[in-house]
Formats: sequence, structure tokens, C-alpha cells
Amino acid sequence: MSTYVLDQGHPGERTRLEAMAGAWDPGTMRLVGALGIGTGHRCLEVGAGTGSIARALADVVGPEGHVLAVDRDIRFLGELPDGVEVRCMDVMVDDLPHAQFDLVHTRLLIAHLHPHRRALQRLAAAVTPGGWLLVEEVDWTCADLIVPEAPIHIAMVRALQQLMGERGGFDATYGRRLLGDVLSLGFTDVSAQYRGTQSRSSSESWLAWQLLVEQFQQGIIQAELMTQQEVDEWWSLSRDENNLVVGVTMFAVQARRLLEVSLGL
Ligand SMILES: C[S@@+](CC[C@H](N)C(=O)[O-])C[C@H]1O[C@@H](n2cnc3c(N)ncnc32)[C@H](O)[C@@H]1O
Repeated sequence: MSTYVLDQGHPGERTRLEAMAGAWDPGTMRLVGALGIGTGHRCLEVGAGTGSIARALADVVGPEGHVLAVDRDIRFLGELPDGVEVRCMDVMVDDLPHAQFDLVHTRLLIAHLHPHRRALQRLAAAVTPGGWLLVEEVDWTCADLIVPEAPIHIAMVRALQQLMGERGGFDATYGRRLLGDVLSLGFTDVSAQYRGTQSRSSSESWLAWQLLVEQFQQGIIQAELMTQQEVDEWWSLSRDENNLVVGVTMFAVQARRLLEVSLGL
């Protein structure tokens, strides 16, 4: 099922996606570089968002390579270089090109799609033998950590997690289970790592939280997960730049397709 709960039409959504890209892209491109992706390779970026990774991949593969950026909503993918092909596709419904890509990458998507393993299978089928699947997903395990400690932030993170889970099935603890699902695909050279940052609450990661709250705060109040007063209290806290926020943890799992493995599709 396609159960993405964020609204691309929300006024702050492009900025939120750009803030997340700013925070996570350097780490993603280090992982891509370590896989040996380079000149002439063919890459697929799934759930491309604003296209920042597709653009960076186009730089890496050069004019002899090819980058296909897919998203079910391509409104933010209009200004990409010639080396990037954009297609409007729902990966749970529309079939991706079969066994074509040296790298299939996705970030911040599978935790929204159900069943997660089915979504992974569909992406894995697009990897050419010898190519890599690289999947990155968050886990909110540290998301409520803030210094000095603030119960109102813990309440906000829990409310967001509950609402996003109930409305769209967003699984805020999927990052830690991603490795198990990738192992079950039958690929080889599977490994996982995780990363995160701590920063002042003036960082891009914090801006992404603020924009997430903006998008869901009415829903949180309507669902009686928090009162208007509590939401206002969170905003006061969030505007104090002296807070040190930990944020989410990004799990990255890579796996290589050596042979024509059956993916049970
Ligand atoms: C949270 S954003 C992440 C964007 C980008 N991958 C990043 O990490 O910065 C998830 C993206 O996946 C797209 N998406 C959601 N469900 C999808 C589906 N079923 N098929 C294709 N794209 C989807 C959304 O439109 C959105 O652009």
C-alpha cells in the first residue's frame, strides 16, 4: 500500500524537504562514494523529493552515466540537470525498470510504505546483477532528546509519532528493522550503519522538525493528543536557540545483487 502521510502541497513542505536534504545529503553521498559508484554508472533515486541526491548522482556518473529520479509527486523535480530523467511513479503500483541499475537508492520512504519488505523487493528488482541497493531510513529512538531536558518536547515527538502512525502508517521505529528486511532479500555483502547529529536548535534538522509540527499541529489538537496551550509551549521552547537537540537516527543498509536472485515478485 502507498500510505505516505506528508502533504507535498503544504506551504512549508519544499523547505522541510530541503532542510532534511541539507542535513543528510553529505552522509548519503559518502556512502555512495564508498560503494564505488562513478563515471558511466546507471542510478535510480526513488522518492526523490527535491532531487538533491539525483543531482549529486548526476555529477558523480557524468554524461556517460544515467540517473532516473522517480517520485509519486514530481512537483519539486522541475529544475534538474539534463543527465537526470524524471518519472512520476508510485513505486507500490508502477513497475520500475527491471534489473537495470548499478545503484538503487532511497531515503526516508520505506518506513511510510506497507508492507515494508514488499516495497524493498520492488526496489531490489531494479538492481542489476553486481549492482547495489542502498536504503536509508530513520528511527526516532533519540528524537525526543533535548538539552536541557524538556517534557513538552517528549510530548510533541510522541504526539507526532502517534498521529503519523495512525493516519498513514508511518513507522518511526523502522530504521532498526531495516537490516533484517534487507537480509531477507537474499542479496550479498549486506552491511548497516547509523548516523545522527546533535546541534543547536537553529540547525536545518531542527527547522525540519518545526515544519513537521506546523503540518500536523492542528491534527494533534483535534485528536486531543495535546492542547493548544501545550503546542504553544512547544513553540516557545523550539524558538530558544540555546537548546541542544539530538534528533533522529538515520540507518543505512547496503546490499549487493551478485546473481539473478529470485525476489518473489
Ligand atoms: C520524506 S520525502 C524524502 C525525500 C528524499 N528521499 C530525501 O530523503 O530527502 C519522501 C518522498 O517520497 C515520495 N513518495 C511517497 N510515497 C511514494 C511512492 N509510493 N512512490 C514514489 N514516491 C513516493 C514523496 O512524494 C516524497 O517526495
